[in-house]
Amino acid sequence: MKHRRVDHCADWEDLRGMWDIRPDTLYLNHGSFGVSPRPVREVRRRWLDDCDRQPMDVYCRQVEGQLRVARERLAHFVGTAPGNLAFVDNATYGMNVVAESFPLARGDEVVLTDHEYGAVDRIWRRRVARSDAAVVVANMPRRFETPDELIDAVLRRITNRTRLVVISHITSPTALIWPVAELAVRLRERNFAICVDGPHAPAQVALDIDDLDCDFYVASCHKWLCAPLGTGFLYAHPRQHGYMQPLIKSWGLLPPAMPSRWDEEFLWQGTRDYSGFLAIPAAIDFLEEVGLEAFRQRAYWLAGVAEQGLIEITGQRPLGDRAAGWYGTMAHVPLPAGDWSRLQRELWERFGIEVPVIHFQDRWYVRVSCHLHTDREEIERFLAALRQLLRSGP
Ligand SMILES: Cc1ncc(COP(=O)(O)O)c(C=O)c1O
Repeated sequence: MKHRRVDHCADWEDLRGMWDIRPDTLYLNHGSFGVSPRPVREVRRRWLDDCDRQPMDVYCRQVEGQLRVARERLAHFVGTAPGNLAFVDNATYGMNVVAESFPLARGDEVVLTDHEYGAVDRIWRRRVARSDAAVVVANMPRRFETPDELIDAVLRRITNRTRLVVISHITSPTALIWPVAELAVRLRERNFAICVDGPHAPAQVALDIDDLDCDFYVASCHKWLCAPLGTGFLYAHPRQHGYMQPLIKSWGLLPPAMPSRWDEEFLWQGTRDYSGFLAIPAAIDFLEEVGLEAFRQRAYWLAGVAEQGLIEITGQRPLGDRAAGWYGTMAHVPLPAGDWSRLQRELWERFGIEVPVIHFQDRWYVRVSCHLHTDREEIERFLAALRQLLRSGP
């Protein structure tokens, strides 16, 4: 495959053919659950078959070395050293590791924003309760104009009790790309730790974690990177390695070796299916062969088409301007006032369209994910269905 010229009218059909999405489904929710293209599924399938045919050979002689190879490839892709990364099942798992490992004492505060993923909020509320610490919520502006307003809204909630700021790189309910690099600089200047919740970032945006200089970064590779479901990573800055522990204690390394570094504790996590992690390099190969920039520009353009159509249909404005860089490969637009709780189901049941309709604060929003298997005709079909459903009211 050659790197594509980014010509939006050109035929991208050969790439669409790499996915086997069910023919009854128009899939616009890569942002929740990514789907893997064929080359990735083939690599995973080979590992599963090898395990079924000769598990001793795979587990005792291959897995550890191949996990290190896969991790090295991923580390290079996200811009850090392999020793700062551990494979975990997903961002949720990674966030739990941070929460369980990070030291908190009575009265300490963990700052979250009001756009964080619901499960992340739950993770930290459980954690602080155990230590008589507290979650402090930074309320974001109603509309996003400049990055500084967002950064100031977080900094206003920092006190001498703050121990950690937990913030999304790309938000789940609102699809906004946040200026985490600029925020990390401001927090580091004052010696506060920052944990970035980034499952939407790998592949959707260029990622250089070392450059971010955050303390922790958690992500899932099964969203935009198209790796198999159940593949994620946890990054910890070397200044935090000393106390990090997996949620499940196992050998770490296969005996007789014994782990001596934090990341080695995460390599062998008991007898389980490692095939998804071993297929991560195939996912990176796939997107690199297409060209990461070509992928981003194509998906960004499609998201823009979706956004424009949504603005016309709903008469509403997104929370920030696409041209100012607030959005990537997802379109996110509010619906007219009213209770749209049945809309997602109707889009599926009547039109076979999978797209999340999200209730956030006091409004309903629609979030459209565009990937290489998305085309303009699909976006038009989705817009026509939505127009029809909105016409009959909530
Ligand atoms: C911002 C954010 N954090 C965390 C998660 C949880 O990701 P996972 O289910 O892959 O653990 C998501 C999932 O959509 C998310 O968008």
